[in-house]
Amino acid sequence: MYLFEAGEDQKMIQEAARDFAQSRILPNAMKWDQSHEFPEEVIRELGELGLMGMTVPENLGGGGTDTVAYALAVMEIARGCSSVAVTMCVNHLVCEILNLYGSEEQKHEWLPKLASAETLGSFCLSEPQAGSDAQNQKTRAVQDGNEWILTGKKSWITNGTYAGLFVVTAVTTESDGKKEITAFLVPGDAKGLIRGKPEHKMGQCASNTVEITLDGVRVPESSIIGGQNGFKVMMNGLNSGRIGIAALCCGVGRACLEEASRYANERIAFGAPIARFQAIQFKIADMATELEASELLTLKAAWLKDENRNFMEAASMAKLKAAETCNELAKEALQIHGGNGYVVEYLVEKLYRDARITTIYEGTSEIQRLVIGRTVLSRFQ
Ligand code: CAA
Repeated sequence: MYLFEAGEDQKMIQEAARDFAQSRILPNAMKWDQSHEFPEEVIRELGELGLMGMTVPENLGGGGTDTVAYALAVMEIARGCSSVAVTMCVNHLVCEILNLYGSEEQKHEWLPKLASAETLGSFCLSEPQAGSDAQNQKTRAVQDGNEWILTGKKSWITNGTYAGLFVVTAVTTESDGKKEITAFLVPGDAKGLIRGKPEHKMGQCASNTVEITLDGVRVPESSIIGGQNGFKVMMNGLNSGRIGIAALCCGVGRACLEEASRYANERIAFGAPIARFQAIQFKIADMATELEASELLTLKAAWLKDENRNFMEAASMAKLKAAETCNELAKEALQIHGGNGYVVEYLVEKLYRDARITTIYEGTSEIQRLVIGRTVLSRFQ
């Protein structure tokens, strides 16, 4: 059990992830950010280390770890670079969907490749007109004998240029305003699957984000995952995904706190390191306290999941708190750096931009509040 201290196995994984982030990620993170370079080699190395499919069972090529260990590892990787962490998280989200809903054939076909990073996974739910309003899908799947034909567009698809497997939702039937949404496993080499140009983003520039067009993509009936309730497949996947993104936010927050503390101890103003001033001490104290609260909420959500308890509300709370906190910490870290923080040579400038997406992807803060609010209110009905 985890609550206040990781177990020996969890600590070993955390330390391995920390060492990798220190040696392979952090020294290159600003270079990748500035050149918008996707670090393919490092992602492959993460696969070799067992960090790309951590909770996948060992007999399917995964790490067989629990979710707490996964969250601790994501925190460390994100402390090095959140672009690498989001690549890892989205691949893990696809693994989770296969873990939860895949048939034996689907699991054996895809999980070993995803866990080793031989193949990357992409999660295709959002569309140009369907971000938060995820049920407002326009992508259609029409049955033709033993096959389905998929037509539509999917937006903001992480890993899209490199992915070998796409989990794609499409509307299969619609009558009286009620839609049936089904999830399909679409291989990257499917004819008619077109990868758009990578988006030129404000932050997390070393992660890959594209639009995917499905132009009459044919897949066999056996590529349906999770039966007819594809929306639930994606929502339950996202509940797990939100724990990963919460952990990513904690990693970015930790980097902000460390950078700000180091700078405050070094920077001299009015004849003393600025760390001597209460204005700075109070900021650091609030940053550390908020970060601790975010980490505890994230690890609690992970622990609930490992205990097979309902963790939907906890995952949304963790994602909400950690994403808002990492933005606040990035703002304060930059403020402590003063003018230097606004210059690209300083890491906090990157952290500030990287943090911004976290209150948006895998469910905006507003959507997390909606999930939490509805759940709390339902207990008093
Ligand atoms: N877990 C499990 N089930 C859920 C759920 C959750 N978190 N949220 C909703 N559901 C279920 C509901 O219980 C309901 O089930 P029933 O039909 O059995 O009652 C069904 O889904 C429909 O739910 P609602 O009636 O609440 O539907 P809604 O349309 O009013 O609201 C929503 C749904 C919560 C707003 C949902 O659309 C949502 O979460 N939107 C945000 C989508 C999102 O997070 N997108 C992120 C994109 S992925 C991404 O960013 C990845 C990346 O690459 C980085």
